[in-house]
Parts: sequence; C-alpha cells; structure tokens
Amino acid sequence: MYNDNPTLVGLQQKMDESRQGEAYTDARKAAHTEGNGKHFYIESYGCQMNFSDSEIVASILSGEGYRATRNMEEADLILVNTCSIREKAEETVRKRLRIFDQVKQSRPGTLVGVLGCMAERLKAKLLEEEKLVDLVLGPDAYRDLPKLIATAEDGDKGINVFLSREETYADISPMRLDSNGVSAFISIMRGCDNMCSFCVVPFTRGRERSRNAFSIVAEATDLFQRGYREVTLLGQNVDSYKWENPETGEPVSFAELLEMVALVHPDLRIRFSTSHPKDITDEVLYTMKRYENICKYIHLPVQSGNSRILKLMNRTYDREWYMNKVRRIYEIMPDCAISSDIIAGFCSETEEEHQDTLSVIECSNYSMSYMFFYSERPGTLAARKYEDDIPLKVKKRRLQEIIRLQTQVSFEHNKKDIGKTFKVLIEGDSKRSDQEFKGRNSQNKMIVFPKAAGLEPGHYCYVKVEDATSATLRGQLVEAG
Ligand code: 5AD
Ligand code: SF4
Repeated sequence: MYNDNPTLVGLQQKMDESRQGEAYTDARKAAHTEGNGKHFYIESYGCQMNFSDSEIVASILSGEGYRATRNMEEADLILVNTCSIREKAEETVRKRLRIFDQVKQSRPGTLVGVLGCMAERLKAKLLEEEKLVDLVLGPDAYRDLPKLIATAEDGDKGINVFLSREETYADISPMRLDSNGVSAFISIMRGCDNMCSFCVVPFTRGRERSRNAFSIVAEATDLFQRGYREVTLLGQNVDSYKWENPETGEPVSFAELLEMVALVHPDLRIRFSTSHPKDITDEVLYTMKRYENICKYIHLPVQSGNSRILKLMNRTYDREWYMNKVRRIYEIMPDCAISSDIIAGFCSETEEEHQDTLSVIECSNYSMSYMFFYSERPGTLAARKYEDDIPLKVKKRRLQEIIRLQTQVSFEHNKKDIGKTFKVLIEGDSKRSDQEFKGRNSQNKMIVFPKAAGLEPGHYCYVKVEDATSATLRGQLVEAG
C-alpha cells in the first residue's frame, strides 16, 4: 500500500475526462475544453491517499487547461506528490528533485512543484534547500495551485502550507490517473487525530475531518455508471468517519456510510482502508457481513505485538485488546482476511518484546502485512520523548525475521484456499502473460487464471484455486460471472 516508486500519470487517452468540469466555472470549463497548450507531469509517492490527492490535483489542472503527459521532458509543470512517513521516502523524493533540476536547466521556464506531506513538513525550508523548486503546496492547499502557478510564472516562489479544518475537496471530481477502469479510490476523510507517537501524519495532514456522505455516494454511483466495479473508501482512520447532515442534523457513521455505498449497486465492490483497531465497531463488522459486495478484508495495523511498546506508541490498545478484536472479526466473518502494518525496532524494544510481535503475526493469521523498521521522524512524540536506541543492524535483523515469518504465514493462508472456488473481479492481464487474467477475490487475494472467450476486465467470474505461493493464487475458470 506504501509506495516508494513513482506512479506516473496515465497517457492522455487513458485519462478520464468525462468527469471534469463539474465543479468548475464556465471559464475554467472553456480552458479545459480548449486547453492552454501546457502540459503537467506528476509523480506520486506514499500512501493511497497521496495517489488519490494527485487525482484531485490533476482535475484542478485540467480545469485550467493543462494536459497530462507521461514525458517530463515536454512538461511545463513538473509536480511530485511526496511522502514523509519514513526517512527513505523523503530521500527518494530528493533524488527525484535532482533529476527534475536537470530537465529544468535544459528547458528554462519549466516549473517544479513539491506537493503533499514533505511540503507540509519542510515548508519554506524546502525552497531554501532545493533552490530549483518553484512551488510548495501542502495537502490542503491544492485549490490554490492555479494562483501559485501564476505567482511562480511571474518569477516569485509560490507557497501555501496552510492546514484546514474543513477542506475535503468534496466538490472536485478526481481525474482518474493510470486507472484500470475497474477499481478506483474515493477519499472519505482527511487528516488524523490519533497521535501515534511514531507518526508524522497528524503534523503533515492536519486534523481529522469527514467528507459529505452524499458526495461520496454520488462519486461511487458515477464510477459505477462509467463501468467501475470496485471502490476503496480511503482515510487515515476510516472507522472514525463521522459526518453530520446539516439539513437534518443526523450524524452518519462509518457503518452507515458503508451501507449507503453498498446500496449503490450489488455489483459494485466496496473496500476500505485504513482501520484503527480501537475504532472498528461490531456495527461495521455486521454491516460487512450483511452485504456480499462489501469485501471480507480488513487492514488492521497492529504495529507491535507487545503491550509496553504499544503504550509507548500511544496506540491506545494492548495486545490482549487487539487479539480480542481479531477474534471478534473471525467470529462474525470466518471467511474474512486480515492484514497488518508492523514496525520493527521501535525505541527501547527488547528481544522478548520483538518475539511478541512475531507471535501476534501467527495468532492473528494475517493474510499479509506491510513491514517496516522504525524511522525516527522529527517533531513526532517519539522523537521528542524517546531515544531511537535500537541499532540499525538490529532493526534490520528483526525486520527480516518478521518478513520471513509473515511470508510463511501468508503461504499457509493461501495454501488453505487450494480447492476453493472464489468470485473474482477481473482487473486486467496478469503481469507475466497476456494469455492470463488477474483479479482479486473478496479477501483481496490476487488470483491468476487462463483467459476465456467473452471475459473482460470489469467482469466477475468464478475461479477454482489449484496452486498458491505466498503472494498469489492460481486457478481455473469454473464459471463466467
Ligand atoms: N517508522 C516506520 N514506520 C512507520 N509507519 C508510520 N510511521 C513510521 C515510522 N516513523 C508505518 C506504520 C503505519 C504505516 C503507514 O507506516 O506501520 O501504519
Ligand atoms: Fe501518506 Fe503519511 Fe506519507 Fe503523508 S506521510 S503521504 S499521509 S503515508
């Protein structure tokens, strides 16, 4: 889910233009239709939320008449949507800025902009450190992009890192970038109020706020009508979604939102990410169970399997509480898959405490996990309060042990699927062969199977699993949708 490699914008013809303009003035609509002759190029790093934000940025630029390009050499505007979650993510972006510098040197007049979490964290310092950066925009400032481009075109630096308590970009129709035309992200909330001690997100993305529920349902409906068959509702902590209908004063909870989106159409699959174990309720679990089209998959980051470390991390649950939640999920939905995020070598973690993290992987029977070693982030609670005292070598060794165990657990998890038949939503050709399709089952497992006449991406079909690795299932088609 976290990506330190760039995803480039799709080719112009791959882009979804039909949704543009809804939120725009007539002048902007005209600019969009006619184009202003300029091109933008955007790279995104980090979480799905960042990729989703890039689609908002693309929509805003399209409204100004910009066209997307995959080729940075022909871009008038080069943007990088950045991540600050770990030091490595920031290093990757700095390397990319060196490359953009070269393009800028060879093509004077090209503007380079830094968006997202690094922009927010480093603010004006970024303009001083990276001399050739022209624009710096934090995650809540994207509406200001046209104005700041104009400022930069006049030779001044453009910066807006103001964090908002209200901005949700609810009225902006994202321009789908690099879309497979089958699955799309819908951002349902922004920011985070949790204050996990290791995490920079509350500082870079600001306070938590939920988006208008009707605008979410409208976006899902529109996507379905345009052929999409899967939406992932995105937020740093989706289970604390809460929106009040201003007309009735009625609050809408995450469980209610899930139901509203599930009712858009039985053939539209719903996924969501990320869940905080402290906030996911029985009501959410029963709503998932009630609707076949809500996928039986929960990303439930544990971070550590040890209660003392969890307390230092300010996760507000302990190991036992987490394990009870996992048991409750399997009790209500025995076929549900659970995945996790895990951090190795947090401040003061002992070998014994590390063993607790290993055992939580087995006890929870995760289908997969995203695993990291701890990276101290300036300004976070942990950076201020605790010493980053586990040597890098030890962190890396513990991480390897975690990865090795999770790979085994994933393999066992997948082997149990051999002989079972799953409903699969076809996403496209498999990575290896254009004679095979890939798609996912409800549990979010990738299944590869030979193509058959009449089937296309976006169709559902039934596949019987015959083989498994730790990452993928292989099977044969037993029935078309
Ligand atoms: N160091 C390492 N991993 C981190 N994460 C968040 N902050 C850090 C950090 N400082 C991981 C957590 C989180 C995921 C998005 O990234 O596991 O759930
Ligand atoms: Fe996403 Fe967090 Fe990285 Fe920001 S810091 S891009 S919120 S992962």
